[in-house]
Amino acid sequence: MAFEDIGIDLGTASVQVCQSGRGIILEEPSVVAVNTRTDAVLAVGDEAYKMIGRTPSYIQAVHPLEDGVISNYEMTEKMIQYFLRKCCKNSVFKPRVVLCVPSGVTEVEARAAVDAAVSAGARKVYLIEEPVAAALGAGIDISIPNGVMVVDIGGGTTDIAVISLSGVVTKTSIKLAGQKMDQAVIRYIRQSRGILIGEKTAEEIKIKIGTVYMEDSDPDMEMEAKGRDLSLGLPRKFIISRRELMPVLQELAIQIVQSVQSVVERTPPELVGDIFVNGLMLTGGGAMINGLDRLITQRTNIKCTLAQDPIECVAKGTVKAFELLNVLQDGFFPVSTHNH
Ligand SMILES: Nc1ncnc2c1ncn2[C@@H]1O[C@H](COP(=O)(O)OP(=O)(O)OP(=O)(O)O)[C@@H](O)[C@H]1O
Ligand SMILES: [Mg+2]
Repeated sequence: MAFEDIGIDLGTASVQVCQSGRGIILEEPSVVAVNTRTDAVLAVGDEAYKMIGRTPSYIQAVHPLEDGVISNYEMTEKMIQYFLRKCCKNSVFKPRVVLCVPSGVTEVEARAAVDAAVSAGARKVYLIEEPVAAALGAGIDISIPNGVMVVDIGGGTTDIAVISLSGVVTKTSIKLAGQKMDQAVIRYIRQSRGILIGEKTAEEIKIKIGTVYMEDSDPDMEMEAKGRDLSLGLPRKFIISRRELMPVLQELAIQIVQSVQSVVERTPPELVGDIFVNGLMLTGGGAMINGLDRLITQRTNIKCTLAQDPIECVAKGTVKAFELLNVLQDGFFPVSTHNH
C-alpha cells in the first residue's frame, strides 16, 4: 500500500522523512545529545540541536554523520530509530523504506543503517544513491537515454553525477559543502576580528549575507553578530559585510566548480553534449548559497538550474523511487530484503 512507503534522507546536516501521498512529514537536524558520563542519549533532532554549544561539559551534542560518513554508528542507529518510530507511531503496518545514506559511507556502514531501520520497524529497506534521489526529487526523468548532471550540495558532502538510463555514468563526491563554508566563516572572523563565533552564528552569517559571485548582488549588505573576544574573554559585537566575506566563500565554491569540471572531463562526449543542452541541476541546502549558479555557469559554460525546494529533493526522490523499483539499476540496490 502506497501510504506505507517511506523515504528517509539521512543527511549530514538534517534528516528528512517523506511519505508517499503526504510529502515531507519530518525534518530535523541530524544531531544527538549524549550524557558522556553514562552514554545515555538525552535528545535527538530539534531538541538536541538547541543544545549545541550550550551544554555543560558532560553533555555533548554530536553530529553522528560527519563529512558525509557515519562517524558514530551507535548514535546514527539511535537517530534512525527515533525518527522512524516518531513517524510511524500511529501506523498499523510496517513501512517499506527507501533510505538515502551519504555517498561516503562504506558498505558495512550502509548495512548497519539498513539494520537500524529494520530494527525500528521497517518491513523492507532499499538503499539509494544521493545523486539519483536528488535527480528524481528535482523532477528529472532519469530513465531516458539523455544525460543529466546533478550537483547535490549538502552539509557535509557535494555529490556530482551524470545520470543516463537510470544509472550513474560518472560521479564524484567531495567532502566540501555547507559546513565547510561555516567553518571558513568561523576561521575568518577569528583571524580578522579576534572573535570566536559558534557554528550556528557562522551558518546564519553565511545564509544572510554570504555570496560566491558578486555581480548583481548587493555588496554593501551587512549584518551584526556576536561572539567572544579571544583576548579579553568577553562577549563582543561585530559587523561583517557581504563584500568582505565573499572571497572566503568563493574560494570554496571554486573547488566545487573544479570538481564539476573533472566529472565533465570523464564523461563520454555524447553525454557531455546532452549536459550542454540540458544544463545541470543544483540540489541540496548548500546549493542555495547566493550566486553559485552564476559562478558555475561563468566558469564552465553550463547553464544551471536551482531545483525547487533544493533541501527537499533527496527526500522527495527517495519516495519517487518506489515507482521505479524495476527500472532503476545502479544506485538502487535492494541490499536488504528483510522480511519480518
Ligand atoms: N539559504 C541558504 N544559503 C546557503 N546555505 C544554506 C541555505 N539554507 C541551508 N543551507 C545550508 O545547507 C546545508 C544543509 O543542506 P542539506 O540539508 O541538503 O544537507 P544534508 O543532506 O543534511 O547533508 P549531506 O547531503 O551532505 O549529507 C547546511 O550547511 C546549511 O547551512
Ligand atoms: Mg543530502
